Amino acid sequence: MTRRILFLGPQGSGKGTQAVKLSVLLGVPHISTGDMLRAAVADGTELGRRAEAIMAAGDLVPDDLVVAMVAERLGADDAHCGFLLDGFPRTEVQARALDEALSAGQGAGVEGGGGAAVDVVVLLEVDHDELMRRLLQRAADQGRSDDTAESIERRLSIYWEETAPLAEYYPAHGVDVARIDGMGSVDEVFSRITKALSEETL
Ligand code: AP5
Ligand code: MG
Repeated sequence: MTRRILFLGPQGSGKGTQAVKLSVLLGVPHISTGDMLRAAVADGTELGRRAEAIMAAGDLVPDDLVVAMVAERLGADDAHCGFLLDGFPRTEVQARALDEALSAGQGAGVEGGGGAAVDVVVLLEVDHDELMRRLLQRAADQGRSDDTAESIERRLSIYWEETAPLAEYYPAHGVDVARIDGMGSVDEVFSRITKALSEETL
């Protein structure tokens, strides 16, 4: 069975934290566009140079750059048995591009034949105050360059405008959205996710 799982949720909802754990459990790669872009910035690649200021401001990197990066990653051998996508898609344009890439056979494409390109979407739901608390805490602990108050506000407002509507896009395209309460400890949230997925793909 293929395991093509998307993590959706606002900044600070725990997508990266939970996807790392689930990736170990399922044995499929965790693909984070934020991590890939930060690596490109650190390496000083052409993509990184174009993305750096955009990311620091909390804006979205242009769809065409991110789509090309993800399409290439999904073509790698380790994505053939499935993947956990974290931070992508973030716009409807990206969601459509992902559907097209998967139906063209990339990333565990269509072994089951004919069905939806993605198996399930995990949507993490967390109160605004808790999101701010977590992100400001990370700013203090790790100094991530986009965890300033202005950038956090910008990222969250873009999330609600551009990304949250994907929670409607997927059901309209035949893909279940598992809404998970993301409040509480990391382990509590993880057990809610595995319980929900056991009814879907595990
Ligand atoms: P990205 O790296 O995806 O960052 P983000 O969107 O700001 O999301 P976060 O990583 O902050 O949130 P998360 O939900 O992963 O939470 P996490 O587990 O880290 O993107 C960065 C930038 O790259 C974007 O702004 C954009 O510019 C660009 N970009 C990326 N993808 C793009 C795309 N597809 N298109 C265009 N541009 C793109 O947890 C957050 C903190 O909370 C951590 O410190 C964690 O330890 C803590 N925490 C997690 N769970 C819990 C818990 N249960 N209890 C207490 N603390 C917790
Ligand atoms: Mg993250």
